Amino acid sequence: MGTDDIRSALSRTSFDFRRPNGVDLIERTQGFHDWLETCFDYGIWSYGRATDQGPRRHVAILNDRGERTEGVNFASQDYLSLAAHPEINAAAHEAIDTYGVHSAGSPALVGNTSSSLSLEEKIADFVKADYVSLFPTGWAAGFGTITGLVRPFDHIVIDALAHACLHSGAQAATKNISLFRHNQVEDARKKLAKIRAKDTENGILLITEGLFSMDSDSPDLAAMQELADEYQATLFVDVAHDLGSMGPTGRGVLEKQNMLGKVDIVMGSFSKTFASNGGFVATRKCGVREYLRFYSSPNTFSNALSPIQTAVVSKAFDIVASDEGRTLRDRNARNGIELRSFLKMAGFDVYGTLSPIVCAHIGEEDLGRVMGRKIAELGLIANLVEYPAVSRKQARFRFQVMANHTSHDTIAASRILANARSEVTDEKGRLKPLDELSWGPAAQSPLTAMAKVKEIGGTDEQAPSIAATG
Ligand SMILES: Cc1ncc(COP(=O)(O)O)c(C=O)c1O
Repeated sequence: MGTDDIRSALSRTSFDFRRPNGVDLIERTQGFHDWLETCFDYGIWSYGRATDQGPRRHVAILNDRGERTEGVNFASQDYLSLAAHPEINAAAHEAIDTYGVHSAGSPALVGNTSSSLSLEEKIADFVKADYVSLFPTGWAAGFGTITGLVRPFDHIVIDALAHACLHSGAQAATKNISLFRHNQVEDARKKLAKIRAKDTENGILLITEGLFSMDSDSPDLAAMQELADEYQATLFVDVAHDLGSMGPTGRGVLEKQNMLGKVDIVMGSFSKTFASNGGFVATRKCGVREYLRFYSSPNTFSNALSPIQTAVVSKAFDIVASDEGRTLRDRNARNGIELRSFLKMAGFDVYGTLSPIVCAHIGEEDLGRVMGRKIAELGLIANLVEYPAVSRKQARFRFQVMANHTSHDTIAASRILANARSEVTDEKGRLKPLDELSWGPAAQSPLTAMAKVKEIGGTDEQAPSIAATG
């Protein structure tokens, strides 16, 4: 082990291993494995970790080597903290009592249950659509809707930063893909105009998201829908992150922008706010729902959501729509406001606008990874996002705020991030020479970590609330 190894490991990214060469498909995974081993040796790999508890505000996590860290958790996406809600738990138990644990088959055969059918109606009502189709995951809903509707002669115009399920769906559906610059309506217009100048016969799917989860920003959806109408395109909006967690009644960015019931196709996931696997697509046309049931592989050739999942999601929608849901959203927003302020006070640039996602800019990938090691030691669990998930030199820590976080947690998180940065950087904010940093075992003692979190963030009672004081 030496600084040359660390330097070499830090200089590479997962992108370097995406196209391994060689005749043996199994053997050629070895290069990636070797790189990961080195990253583990130096504690600079912070992905693929597991918890043995629910997505609580304080959790213990284990990496692939079984090394345990514990800390304040901003890496789960249970935005309204519904995963621990007693009524949701009870709904899951009741579903088992009624249906048993259940795996009935494809929605194209007899996989649906009365529970899944009524959930479809509930969601349609919630998002002011007429028809909803459920999918096994949000990924499947995105990929499956695009590949279900778009054929090789059609076109896709997609935000360059849209989620991987949308880009993968686009690539599987057609070669005619145009990327437009993130959230730039005029750039999307140019792409649409160019396509329509040559092709007035085939379809165009215009794809964007309600809330982008690496940047915490949103497009102008009215302008996007107008654009789609002007060029005879169909607008598709993925609301995975904002539905339930944002908007006065939880109807997300569509509600905030007065676009409920006005977008051609809305796709969502249950894995953020709704405490379960699963996803959906909502439309105004019955034909879309029917067509996707038989021409969208993840719908036709995969299992329907189980009654346990549909009961959980259905109860989650009830809570989201209730006064309690509003209170939980307010708490989430209060935590988001506090975390954004504390991070800015600590000198970090924070991306986008208020949402359950708060990203702090770091820049260089190597600095992000070394800080990732440090924050784990200090008792903070937050996801490092780096190339290729975002552009090169745009690494950031992504904090996902939950309703049951407290001011103590947001203070601890921002101070730990600031302490981590000051421990590993020089006076100009650059990563210190690698031989000046300590590279011993990264695993921490959980007790020490939580004691540090308390020391750094104060207790819940002591912590001031910016939102509470206006
Ligand atoms: C914008 C967006 N769309 C779709 C998905 C996929 O959803 P799921 O986790 O339900 O598969 C995600 C999850 O990461 C997402 O962030």
